[in-house]
Amino acid sequence: MYVLGIETSCDETAVAIYHAQKGLLSHVLYSQADTHSEYGGVVPEIASRDHIRKLTPLIKQCLSDSGLSSNTLDGIAYTAGPGLMGALLVGAATARSLAWTWQIPAIAVHHMEGHLLAPMLEATPPEFPFVALLISGGHSLLIEVNGIGQYKLLGESLDDAAGEAFDKTAKMLELGYPGGPRLAKLAESGQPRFNFPRPMTDRPGLDFSFSGLKTFTLNTLQNSEKTEQDKADIAYAFQQAMAETLAIKCKRALQLTGLKTLVIAGGVSANLAIRESLISMTQQLGAQAYFPRHEFCTDNAAMIAYAGCQRLSAGQTQDLEIFARPRWPINQLLSL
Ligand code: KG4
Ligand code: ZN
Repeated sequence: MYVLGIETSCDETAVAIYHAQKGLLSHVLYSQADTHSEYGGVVPEIASRDHIRKLTPLIKQCLSDSGLSSNTLDGIAYTAGPGLMGALLVGAATARSLAWTWQIPAIAVHHMEGHLLAPMLEATPPEFPFVALLISGGHSLLIEVNGIGQYKLLGESLDDAAGEAFDKTAKMLELGYPGGPRLAKLAESGQPRFNFPRPMTDRPGLDFSFSGLKTFTLNTLQNSEKTEQDKADIAYAFQQAMAETLAIKCKRALQLTGLKTLVIAGGVSANLAIRESLISMTQQLGAQAYFPRHEFCTDNAAMIAYAGCQRLSAGQTQDLEIFARPRWPINQLLSL
């Protein structure tokens, strides 16, 4: 089964083709980051318009890269949510129309399920059941995963998502957009000088809260002379606090469920300090950590084509409705 995947939930336009046995055949991506950077964040209307301009050429390019013609495709998977409504509608309407024209089924994919399954594209994929830590710009979720669509929510962020906290902190440090990777770069020249709190780790539970950490960062910055070294030291302390807090919560989730496999995905899982902290925690527990490759941590269509292929192979399809859900709890998905 050849599945075309389309991702347009935020500021990346991406297309991929995945085959059930042959694996990933091609994937292309256009990032709007430069367009949005002058506004300091994603401007939804600009994002939608850019998806309209870029999506059709990318679909053509992806087909040509794979050497396939459209009549070889067996299905189309599109990100239906969560995300920006206008941006989602571009992908959903395009996917639904092409599926109708080509007389093949379409399937609506949950963006966070895509992230969760991204490590399945690697040479040694994790096996169910596992604990998943999903850390992106809009979500921080800890989930017990017993199979595709079998998601038990263990914990989530009560305020800012992990990526959002990175982006807002980067803004305070005047690093511009996109903030997360820029903050990580600055932290490389930081020294261990400040000790930031590890929010909500002193009481039981698996929820996160990152807004206090943000305030602590702001206070530390305002009390400093704001030199380049001060900023680097603050970025370092913030990143360490994030990495350690996430490791403490993941350790708790593994102990609570008795599981030995941890999957970490979503844009923030590209962060090397966070990866190191989670790998060392799982090693100490005798557990194993799995990540997507760097380019599939952040938004991409390979994960959407993969997730869609699993659901289409199991016989699930979407009717003719152009399905888009800006808010869509992950535990509402059908299990396979
Ligand atoms: O998964 P993603 O690409 O989009 C969403 O679904 O939100 O995640 C984007 C988020 C942004 O907040 C971005 O700053 C963050 O992931 N991010 C990082 C890094 N790379 C991306 N945060 C920290 N360190 C990074 N290296
Ligand atoms: Zn994402």
